[in-house]
Amino acid sequence: MTVDHVAATDEALRNRVADLLAASRARSTALTEAVDEADLVAQHSPLMSPLIWDLAHIGSQEELWLVRDVGGREPLRPEIDGLYDAFQHSRASRVELPLLTPTEARSYVAEVRDKALDALERTPLTGRRLVEHGFAFGMIVQHEQQHDETMLATHQLRAGAPVLHADAPPAGRPLPAREVLVPGGPFTMGTSAEPWALDNERPAHVVEVPAFVIDTAAVTNGDYAEFIAAGGYDDQRWWSDAGWAHQVAAGLRAPQFWERDGTGEWYRRRFGVLERVRADEPVVHVCFHEADAYARWAGKRLPTEAEWEKAARFDQATGRSRRFPWGDDDPTPERANLGQRHLQPSAAGAFPGGASPLGVHQLIGDVWEWTSSGWHPYPGFEVFPYPEYSQVFFGGDYRVLRGGSFGTDPAAIRSTFRNWDHPVRRQIFAGFRCARDVSPAGVA
Ligand code: AVJ
Ligand code: FE
Repeated sequence: MTVDHVAATDEALRNRVADLLAASRARSTALTEAVDEADLVAQHSPLMSPLIWDLAHIGSQEELWLVRDVGGREPLRPEIDGLYDAFQHSRASRVELPLLTPTEARSYVAEVRDKALDALERTPLTGRRLVEHGFAFGMIVQHEQQHDETMLATHQLRAGAPVLHADAPPAGRPLPAREVLVPGGPFTMGTSAEPWALDNERPAHVVEVPAFVIDTAAVTNGDYAEFIAAGGYDDQRWWSDAGWAHQVAAGLRAPQFWERDGTGEWYRRRFGVLERVRADEPVVHVCFHEADAYARWAGKRLPTEAEWEKAARFDQATGRSRRFPWGDDDPTPERANLGQRHLQPSAAGAFPGGASPLGVHQLIGDVWEWTSSGWHPYPGFEVFPYPEYSQVFFGGDYRVLRGGSFGTDPAAIRSTFRNWDHPVRRQIFAGFRCARDVSPAGVA
């Protein structure tokens, strides 16, 4: 089978790689030029790196894989390797390091990019698994885009006047149903075919997923405000033991960035703009524990990772798994709210072109969706090309998130893509949708 994401010719592949490298760099540049130098080196939250660390780390990772490994060149600045190794320094401590200045960091990433493009020109993209189908280049594009989303989260945390701007997303439209039945039976999860899929998405394997019911849209701010108004944060019945302990210790009362005025109306600060919380948008900046508690209050539960992926990929007509909910073609602006084109998630029904065959909407884009699953390897998992991307985190205190957010680039998301984070994290662009077991009476 030929699909458009597998480049037809070597030249087409090289051009595609060059375009994607340029697009990710344009985004990194915009995110770091939006603020002044003092802001670039500042710590906006102990949970995040200074923006200038992310930029130089992007370059460091690109140098490691594309310049040294693929390109076979000597290190450009071996003395800085340790500074940009995420495992050597916690995010909170990076501000204290003798980091490259903004001027130095910019010239470093530019020099690395020159040499990476040189490697792209000279290297045969065959004969070695690392470069087959341009994998190493695709990995580095995804890495830069992932850090761009992280930088976007840092922007959301920084105080001060707004510096990022974007059009509002398309308006929502009523959906014909609030939930749909996903039939039981075998389903092919993960992928062995997607050329740029990361190691944790592999290999494709058949899982038996019993019938379940899933919401056609993510839980909205309006829904979530009802949970708050019903005393959900004060009622231990809805919370797991770990969730309740965290709720008490952290004093959780509402999603991060929400505040209430004297009249009880909810407001939130988004990229420096204080605005009324819109009832019809997906809730965002909730942790796993809040999502889990909401679902229990609603008489539902979070989907497992396998359920989420089956809802996103299963084609009942053929029994096969699609690349995306809408089919096998790549995302477009009509299909999903991705790539920071809008600085917010869109309301339910805003992307009818992205719906799955079963009528589940906005699985890709808008908000990352918490699942109930922990972070584990698939059967047959193999580290590739390095253990520090996925493997060292398996079995830790993490929950899987799926689908990407408005801040995720199309190059860095697939229906098989697996993200993970600590269950207490809220600064990421995460919300959730609910699922439930099939009641004896079927779909309500
Ligand atoms: C897959 C988003 C959890 O940001 O920690 C970036 C991606 N890994 N650099 C992260 C990543 C190495 C990773 N997540
Ligand atoms: Fe990284």
